[in-house]
Amino acid sequence: MPARESRAILPEPPDELKRLSDRLSGRIRARIAAEGPLPFSEYMEMALYEPGLGYYSAGLQKFGAGGDFVTAPELGNVFADCLAHQLAELAEQLGHRSILEIGAGNGSLAARVLNALGVAGPDSYRILERSAHLRQVQKETLEALAPAHVARVAWLDVPPAEPWRGVILANEVLDALPVDCFRTGEQGLQRMCVTDTGAGFGWTTAELPEHLASAVHHALGERLVQLPEGYQSEINPHLGSWLGTVTESLERGCALFIDYGYPRREYYLPERRSGTLICHYRHRALDDPFRWPGLQDISAFVDFTALAEAGQALGLDCAGYTNQAMFLFGCGLEDIWAQAGDLPEIERLRLSTEVCELTLPGAMGEKFQVMALARGLSEPLRGFSMLDLRHRL
Ligand SMILES: C[S@@+](CC[C@H](N)C(=O)[O-])C[C@H]1O[C@@H](n2cnc3c(N)ncnc32)[C@H](O)[C@@H]1O
Repeated sequence: MPARESRAILPEPPDELKRLSDRLSGRIRARIAAEGPLPFSEYMEMALYEPGLGYYSAGLQKFGAGGDFVTAPELGNVFADCLAHQLAELAEQLGHRSILEIGAGNGSLAARVLNALGVAGPDSYRILERSAHLRQVQKETLEALAPAHVARVAWLDVPPAEPWRGVILANEVLDALPVDCFRTGEQGLQRMCVTDTGAGFGWTTAELPEHLASAVHHALGERLVQLPEGYQSEINPHLGSWLGTVTESLERGCALFIDYGYPRREYYLPERRSGTLICHYRHRALDDPFRWPGLQDISAFVDFTALAEAGQALGLDCAGYTNQAMFLFGCGLEDIWAQAGDLPEIERLRLSTEVCELTLPGAMGEKFQVMALARGLSEPLRGFSMLDLRHRL
């Protein structure tokens, strides 16, 4: 991720986009006027998903060079080629080849995975996507990049109702789920809410409701007393119910979650006193979620311990946890690289840049983590064969 930049050197959005942001801000302001300060999770929900105006709902370009950020499948084929090796192994173990991708972005991962799997590909590739605009983008990407496979793809409004067997894929989806923010103060824990300052939006505090207080106490336990006053962080009290909804009908199979995050003991380190919220605008990483609502992405790092716990409560085993670099090596990245020797030099150089971006610790290699939550699987998964980090959860 790029370094944080100061406000002064940020490119200004064009007037047309500022007007879109103003309309969304107007709706948020109206809610604050009617209901009082909004919990941050509700602000984040509106900023990202308000119909027609939210970051993921409006028709802006988000992904790639002309957008705000680049995800692993957009760098090239390597990420999807490695994942395809894991998917092929899982299809063999399960005797089923269905895939459900959640939050498919611009459709790059779907297109590249389908191309990599080729004729041995899934019987069905379903996409559960909440943005109507992105569904359209996904269709266009699939038609352009994977025309031979597009007929196998179906879009869902809700998770499948009927029992099914196969694999759930979710790359950079958990970080886009709205989170609540809390803060330690003189009077104990407080909820961080969003208020209208008259010159934009800003933070204010409110009482922490019971359900959030118990979620924070559960997550932090004795570590709470070690946190300095003014420590702010995030928690997603709805992760378990969301996971339950998307995995409920998965009778046998595995859900692979790839995202930036930490095990809990690193998530709530005392020195991480401003939390993990991060916003992206034109390839700059920023820490102000109130700037240009609807025009910048807002996300929070994932607490992978919370994900494993939520899975356990739903009868899903944590079948693997590692970082992205080791996952990709476990999935055969070395073999893919070995074949690069036959490529023209320019293509080899491009590939080496892609591999570095995906695997170097300072790029995506360690910041991104991979977790498999499985139901009814007994065999180990190759993606986790190089490094098992489950003991750190
Ligand atoms: C950061 S993008 C990741 C895109 C893509 N997976 C990739 O790797 O390029 C987040 C995606 O998740 C979608 N999304 C967020 N919450 C969702 C939910 N609850 N159900 C389905 N899709 C969701 C967004 O609309 C968007 O497509």
